[in-house]
Amino acid sequence: MIHVAASILAADFARLEHHVDEAMVAGAGWVHVDVMDGHFVPNITMGPLVVRALRPLVDRRGGVMDVHLMIEHPERYIDVFVEAGADVITVHIEACVHIHRVLGQIRDRGCKAGVAINPGTALASLDAVLDHVDLVCVMSVNPGFGGQAFIPESVDRVRALRERVGEAVHIEVDGGVGPDNGSTLIHAGADVLVAGSALFGGADMRAAVRGIAGFV
Ligand code: DX5
Ligand code: ZN
Repeated sequence: MIHVAASILAADFARLEHHVDEAMVAGAGWVHVDVMDGHFVPNITMGPLVVRALRPLVDRRGGVMDVHLMIEHPERYIDVFVEAGADVITVHIEACVHIHRVLGQIRDRGCKAGVAINPGTALASLDAVLDHVDLVCVMSVNPGFGGQAFIPESVDRVRALRERVGEAVHIEVDGGVGPDNGSTLIHAGADVLVAGSALFGGADMRAAVRGIAGFV
């Protein structure tokens, strides 16, 4: 099963619920919330209030609230994102000194645990945690901003990771994903495709979802 995750960073925040609902109706089953702290990444975005505000919509549509923490010391904020309504919480391997402790904290609170890896970090750094995660997020841009160009080497990283983990975990790809690379990523083994600008930036979200999910 392929999931398209709508990265709300590219949505119109003046009409956020409506715009995200349009994406969900168009077929994006996951809502991807990019949390940035101005330290781990240069940008500052949003926090648990946005997760809480969108939770009723995600419930109505039967979706998944996918929270991507691009922050230092994520262990300090797990509880507040769980309480706000996250289903999946993903932390960066580069941001965690005690990664197993953080992943355990996420699972203990009843959420699915994800680990994200930057394009410049060796895949081998995931070896020690693959048995402790429900999702690996392969970053296909250097995190911090929406609308960046996809890094082509990411396809091989997805393929290598899928060979390594089998079907046990979700492999999510995040950054520069669109109709031009969606089916390639799916064939390489990705099953969750994050899309911001490719989804919210165009006129026809339904066509975008179909293109990203490899149906065209
Ligand atoms: C990058 C974020 C991504 C990004 C996706 O730091 O984690 O989720 O917003 O946006 P697009 O699809 O526009 O690259
Ligand atoms: Zn993201």
